Amino acid sequence: MQSLLNKKIVLGISGGIAAYKSAELARLLMQEGASVQVVMTEAAAQFITPVTMQALTGNPVYTNQWDARISNNMAHIELSRTADAILIAPASADLMAKLSLGLADDLLTTLCLARDCPLLLAPAMNLQMWQHPATVRSAERLRSDRVELLGPASGAQACGEVGMGRMLEPAEITEQLIAFFQKKVLEGKRVLITAGPTFEAIDPVRGITNRSSGKMGFAIARAALEAGAQVHLIAGPCELNTPLLATGKIQRTDVVSAKDMYEAVMASPNCDLFFGVAAVADWAIANPSKEKMKRQGKAIPEIQFAPNPDILLTMAQSAKKTKGKPNPYCVGFAAESTKLEEHADDKRKRKGIPLIVGNIGPDTFGSDLNQLLLIHERGSKKLAKAPKLQLARQLIQFVATQL
Ligand code: CTP
Repeated sequence: MQSLLNKKIVLGISGGIAAYKSAELARLLMQEGASVQVVMTEAAAQFITPVTMQALTGNPVYTNQWDARISNNMAHIELSRTADAILIAPASADLMAKLSLGLADDLLTTLCLARDCPLLLAPAMNLQMWQHPATVRSAERLRSDRVELLGPASGAQACGEVGMGRMLEPAEITEQLIAFFQKKVLEGKRVLITAGPTFEAIDPVRGITNRSSGKMGFAIARAALEAGAQVHLIAGPCELNTPLLATGKIQRTDVVSAKDMYEAVMASPNCDLFFGVAAVADWAIANPSKEKMKRQGKAIPEIQFAPNPDILLTMAQSAKKTKGKPNPYCVGFAAESTKLEEHADDKRKRKGIPLIVGNIGPDTFGSDLNQLLLIHERGSKKLAKAPKLQLARQLIQFVATQL
């Protein structure tokens, strides 16, 4: 699935050691379907060659405003008029200072001043440079001019120091650029999501779990963030990376058992939307052993079960009606082996929730693809087989219309 299909991105590169990562960034943008036009400052060409960027993008690279290759000799106008966005990575302290003052003494800065498309910067500099009052002022001015700053991150720097100022990784910049282009239908909303399986311990080394990979719940978290929400993701044991972590708009709590998940949900601040995507164990082990159960010389163990609290039901019961709509708006998930619509709708009514999402087909566990049936108070809507992230985006758009 390509999330930047048909997008034209001008990739600006300014002078900083992080420029070596711009090659990887160009590749990732193109993998997502974007066409990439590189514009470099003279200093950037000291760190990475225009030839490298030209070979990777398949487009001529522009480095100065006197370049005669554009027929009307107005590269600064031409390049931005066809672009969907200008992304500068790395953006040096010097470049940020110039842009914040509206200076235009080379092609890249002139292009930014003359642009009629959004501008996003991925700052990269030494920690002291980032903390310098002049750079703090530049960043504030740029933000108030509606320039998006992506990062920077904190960590080890090329100069040997450790701290704030590292450029975000190319994958994080790409993820944030994709998010930038999505509709902000959940701006200002707080979203709580449970995802993945739960694990009920039998003894310190054994337990009962299920085949949920967490992919659908994590995709919904990403889609909600892309839509402008603040997200709290409560995840059972799974190996997935937290989406859009660098935005600072997602909090993740890792849990193990259904009881842990219930407690984490109850301790989470109020939310506007709750998605119960986790495959929560219906029963906990009533008599877990503190020590590993030994096989030799022992009778076959008897495992007793005790019911787990129903997280979704508890959330739905806590929902208050405001202006005729429940808050939080609760969305449940159902995996059924037969009569999906009938069983899922029955579950929706039993739990008292406005929307339940049925997984169509038994092959969704661990897969990147899924098919969904949205069952609500007034009928149902099928979402055809697609990557889970694409379905998550469609689900978020649908839910936003219901709020
Ligand atoms: N759920 C929950 N807490 C539980 C159990 C389930 O929040 N203890 C949520 C799941 O996250 C999902 C929905 O409830 O959104 C699934 O409903 P449930 O009735 O538990 O499904 P099944 O266990 O599949 O029910 P059944 O065995 O009756 O089909």
